[in-house]
Amino acid sequence: MYRAPGRVNLIGEHTDYNDGFATPAAIQFYCWVAVGAREDRKLSIYSEEFSAAAEADLSSAALQPSKTWSDYPIGVALQLEKAGFRLPGANLLVESEVPMGAGLSSSAAIEVATALALSEQSGRPADRLQLALLCQRAENEFVGARVGIMDQFVSLYGQEDHALMLDCRALSFESLLIPDSVKLVISNTMVKHELASSEYNRRREDCEEAVRRLAGVLPGIRALRDVSTEQLEQHRNALSQVIYKRALHVVTENARVLDSAEALRSGDIVRFGKRMAESHRSLRDLYEVSCRELDLMVDLAYQQKGVFGARMTGGGFGGATINLVDARYAGEFKEKMAKSYQRETGLVPQIYICRPAEGAGPVPSSDV
Ligand code: GLA
Repeated sequence: MYRAPGRVNLIGEHTDYNDGFATPAAIQFYCWVAVGAREDRKLSIYSEEFSAAAEADLSSAALQPSKTWSDYPIGVALQLEKAGFRLPGANLLVESEVPMGAGLSSSAAIEVATALALSEQSGRPADRLQLALLCQRAENEFVGARVGIMDQFVSLYGQEDHALMLDCRALSFESLLIPDSVKLVISNTMVKHELASSEYNRRREDCEEAVRRLAGVLPGIRALRDVSTEQLEQHRNALSQVIYKRALHVVTENARVLDSAEALRSGDIVRFGKRMAESHRSLRDLYEVSCRELDLMVDLAYQQKGVFGARMTGGGFGGATINLVDARYAGEFKEKMAKSYQRETGLVPQIYICRPAEGAGPVPSSDV
C-alpha cells in the first residue's frame, strides 16, 4: 500500500509553468492506493469515493480518456509504460481523504500514489523526480490539463514542518522551516466555478504569448522567469493590456517568492504574510483567477486575530484560501471564519488546521 499527500501552496501561484518559483507544503490528507498483482495485463481500479470501478487493458494501443477520475491512474500507467517500465496487470484500490475541487491537489495525490504502486510492481523502482515528471505528463497528455510540476513535486518531496521553495526550472528545492507557533489554516469556499480548467489553460497560453512577444526585444528569454519587472515595464508596449497584466503578475510573484523565502530563513512570518497579501491582490486584479467567494474569505481572514497572511491557493476560480495563523488563535479563527462566511454566503466552509506533512511513500504494514 502506498500513500501520497495533497498540498497547499503558501506563495508562488501560476509561476510553476513559467519556470518560476513556488513554496508549497504537503498536508496531512492522503490518497491511499493498495495494489495486488494479476495474471493478465489489465488494470482493474476501484475508487472508494466514487464507489466506481474502471478497467484498462495495458496491452491495448488505443486507450482513450473517459473524462472521469480513472483518467489519472490510467494516464500514469501509460506514462510509466512509455518510459520503459514493463507493468504487469494489477488490481488497485483507491481511497482518498484529500478534499476534491478544493485546490488541494487531489489529482496529484492519486497520480503519485498510483505511480509509486505501479513502478514498484514493475520491479524497477523509479527515482522521485522521474515519477513527478511522469505524473505531470499524465495530467498534461491524458487528462488534458496543462498543469505545471508543483503539485506532483511536493506530493513526492514534502517534509514534515517544512515548506519547499521550488525552483521549477532547476527542479530543485530548499526546505524552509515553518515555526511551530504557526498553523496553516485552509479554508474551503465550497465553490468550484466551471471556468477553472479552460481558464487555466488559457492563462498558460497568455504567458506563452508574453514570452513570444518579449523575446523579440529581449533575445534569449525562454520563460517569464527570465524577465525582470524593470524589463517588463520597459517593453510594456510590446504587449496587449491583458497580456501585460498576466506577465506582471508572474514576474512580481516570482520576486515575492524569493523575498518570502528570505523572510522564512530569518523567521520573519510578518514579512511572509505581507507577501501573501500582495500575492492575492495580484491574482485577483492582474491574473484574474480569483472569485467573489475567495475574495470575501480573504477579507474575512484579515478581520480575525492572529492572522499573518491570507490568500487564495491553487489554480483559483473557487477552491480554498491559505491562512497563516498564530497557533494560539487557530481554533478561534476557524470558528469565526466559519460563522462569518456562512452568514455572508449561506455556504458552510470546511476549514482545516494543518501543519506541513511528509511526502509520499509506502505505508508500513503496522499502519494499515
Ligand atoms: C494548479 C496546477 C499547478 C499550478 C497551480 C497554480 O494547482 O496543478 O501546477 O500551476 O494550479 O499555481
